[in-house]
Amino acid sequence: MAASRGQKVAVTGGSGFVGRNLVKELSRLGKNVVVVDLTPSPEAESRIAGVEYVRADLRDYGDVLLALQGVDTVFHIAGNASGTLSVEYPRLDFQTNAVATCNVGNACLQLGVRRLVYLSSAIVYGTPQYVPMTEEHPTSPFLPYGASKLSGEFSLLSLEATADLPVVIGRSFVIYGPGEDPRTAGGEVSQFLRWHLNERKIPVVGDIDRKTRDFIHVFDLCAALIKLAEVGQSGEIYNLGSGQEVSMRELADTIGAATGRKAVLEPDESQLEDSFRLVADTSKLFSLGFKPSIPLQEGIRYLASDLGEFPELPTTAAKFRRDSQDEQYAAKG
Ligand SMILES: NC(=O)c1ccc[n+]([C@@H]2O[C@H](COP(=O)([O-])OP(=O)(O)OC[C@H]3O[C@@H](n4cnc5c(N)ncnc54)[C@H](O)[C@@H]3O)[C@@H](O)[C@H]2O)c1
Repeated sequence: MAASRGQKVAVTGGSGFVGRNLVKELSRLGKNVVVVDLTPSPEAESRIAGVEYVRADLRDYGDVLLALQGVDTVFHIAGNASGTLSVEYPRLDFQTNAVATCNVGNACLQLGVRRLVYLSSAIVYGTPQYVPMTEEHPTSPFLPYGASKLSGEFSLLSLEATADLPVVIGRSFVIYGPGEDPRTAGGEVSQFLRWHLNERKIPVVGDIDRKTRDFIHVFDLCAALIKLAEVGQSGEIYNLGSGQEVSMRELADTIGAATGRKAVLEPDESQLEDSFRLVADTSKLFSLGFKPSIPLQEGIRYLASDLGEFPELPTTAAKFRRDSQDEQYAAKG
């Protein structure tokens, strides 16, 4: 990584699901880490030893400049990760993902940060036209979330082209693992497992065979982000995934095998918008010397023991359109 031992590494969004796992890993590697987040883990018991916590709203440029002072490497992880929230509050989503990312890029230039790694999303591709998807696949997002993440990418790449911002972009497929908030988490692994551990049928949006996804464990994702910081090419985009295609039926079967009890699906085919195949071509990432190390079944077994019996049920129902009674949202967010 650009930052060697002792140099300062900032993780925006370091209180969230991905960010917190990344902070733990960077600390384990002996890095001097600062968490920059809107909600920087105030309770002493949830803080990671040796980590500095700074509250900043990345939509505010002054906050960003102050928070990133003296930092050598920035992992920009903060953002809205919910497609549903972006449908309900598109302006909030754009400010959080696009405006804040532009602010982070500008501050990195102004402060002379040596490496910026931006966590984007495969959502920017829109509906897949072929699989596995290479980084050259057309980008045509169908959700405000995809549009805002893509704007963030373009904004950073334009700063790379015009001012040599040393930025590397990772487009992640579906991340799972410990620490997801069940109230916002939209990933199928955690959602399915939570229903299953509560001995309930698993509601599935879309066609259980035609809908496939590429799941990557958060520990592998963090290792991939660190690899991008170390040897990723500036101005380049890398898919972050496992390269394994898993249908919703296969995911349920794997959950059954991992927990020793058959998982029962309850298909909800009323919303078929996401019944497509979504799989990463990971050759560009793997060419950097990265390989995922956690097979899905093992990752699920680990997550099941982390969640324990009867974990909180997920509350996010995927939403692709705003209902007419939601008009109030348009004005607010
Ligand atoms: N979870 C996934 O499967 C997935 C997949 C692809 C990409 N991503 C991307 O990864 C990033 C993190 O996702 P996550 O699942 O950890 O989400 P999360 O909601 O758990 O964490 C996001 C963090 O960002 C912080 N944040 C939000 N707005 C902020 C602001 N204005 N200023 C400062 N901090 C702010 C939040 O407080 C939170 O701690 C997102 O940008 C998302 O687009 C996630």
